Amino acid sequence: MQNNNIWSHRWTFILAAVGSAVGLGNLWKFPYITGEYGGGAFVLVYLITIFLIGVPVFMAEAMLGRKSRKSPVDGVTKLARENGASPLWGSVGIMGAFTGVLILSFYSVIAGWAIHYFVRFASGALVGIDADAAGAELGALFASAGSLTIYHTIFMLATMLIIGLGVHKGLERGVNVLLPLLFVMLFVVAIYAAMNGDFAAAASFLFTFDLSKLSLEGWLAALGHAFFTLSLGMGSIFVYGSYMSSESSLAKTAVTVALLDTAVALVAGLAIFSLIFGNGLEASQGPGLLFVSLPLAFAEMPGSAFFGAFFMLLVLFAALSSSISILEPIVAFFVSRGRSRVLTTLVCGAGVWLVGMLTVLSFNHWAGFTPLYDWTLFDIFDKLTSKVTLPLGGVMLSLFAAWVLTKDALVAQIPNATVRQIWVLLARFVAPLGVTFVMLTALNVPQLWALVAAIAFVGAVSVLQLIASGRRRDSQV
Ligand code: TRP
Repeated sequence: MQNNNIWSHRWTFILAAVGSAVGLGNLWKFPYITGEYGGGAFVLVYLITIFLIGVPVFMAEAMLGRKSRKSPVDGVTKLARENGASPLWGSVGIMGAFTGVLILSFYSVIAGWAIHYFVRFASGALVGIDADAAGAELGALFASAGSLTIYHTIFMLATMLIIGLGVHKGLERGVNVLLPLLFVMLFVVAIYAAMNGDFAAAASFLFTFDLSKLSLEGWLAALGHAFFTLSLGMGSIFVYGSYMSSESSLAKTAVTVALLDTAVALVAGLAIFSLIFGNGLEASQGPGLLFVSLPLAFAEMPGSAFFGAFFMLLVLFAALSSSISILEPIVAFFVSRGRSRVLTTLVCGAGVWLVGMLTVLSFNHWAGFTPLYDWTLFDIFDKLTSKVTLPLGGVMLSLFAAWVLTKDALVAQIPNATVRQIWVLLARFVAPLGVTFVMLTALNVPQLWALVAAIAFVGAVSVLQLIASGRRRDSQV
């Protein structure tokens, strides 16, 4: 293993993982789905899942990456072969790649909204804006497929640029400075929002835990979001783990990332709901929530154009440090098969961009196209990934790490006996059973079909892939 493929500092893995974890999931998605599913009870389930399921799955994923030093598909296949398990386990990696394409496709469109708001803040157009005008601003953005396409294109190009050049060079420096800055700015925004909005209402909305208010769908959404926000289940943490030094503690790292990620989500939630309730806006209005409320935080702030634009830039950075972690596992798969990094990035990026156009259209021309229930294509991509393939992928990785790896391997990965025993218990039983239970009770019929279809599809692709790799090996002899 060449040293230049290992992060230069122990901290860098944590920073990179936090960079991957903290993103639109915390700032955009967490507040809006919390609003949709009614607040406190949803938050409680989310928090429990993060620590009981998310942390052990995080450790499993990072461990597998670190042990195999490969990208997800090859890493799992290799470890399976070494341990006498079926190489079909590699299918988790393949499912991850497809999941990544879907997630990045809409992630980029949403990040594009932040580009729009950056431009609008910087031009001073949002100074002194009121709630009605903020709603109209967002409505106009959604209506314009052209603008959405341009922003989506810019964001995809930025992501591709970083991945095309190789992830961990510029990134190491970027996360060091910009992430702490984002935390600071977020605090400032939260304090401002608390002063200008209804902080008490926000706090009681987020922290009044009444489980009877939570629908089954909400349980699954909370569980799925725990995977989404920690970047679990599709290979991001796996790939970053493959650059992680062998000495750092998995448990400490996982807990640190989970705590930071949760803190950002909760602070963002408090800020946004203070503004929402203070301005008499609808908490359950959906994906536009962040972008309707933020301009109100800055409206009366001195230097609002500057600070608003600056904040949007930090949001964009957070999104970019996440989006690269979604694209990297996909690209790494092809690069490890001898394809050129630049070419692979171009092809994969173009594919993701194209799928992203479906999300662009979901907000305007095709807003009425709802093939399932009242779900647009964007809703379908979002629900299929967060509620089905991410939890499934995460649990498979957790099962694989905890059941297939040998005791010696586990001792090397988690030297502390108590920590290891707790992890084994969580990774072998608690995480898989928890996810299975929630899925079986909450998945509705089309989602179950999607689950079955996803498994069948991934199974078929893996078998083909296995045959192909067998042939390659034969032809080498
Ligand atoms: N966790 C990131 C966020 O909250 C998004 C993300 C990055 C992600 N990598 C992922 C989500 C892998 C699911 C799977 O914004």
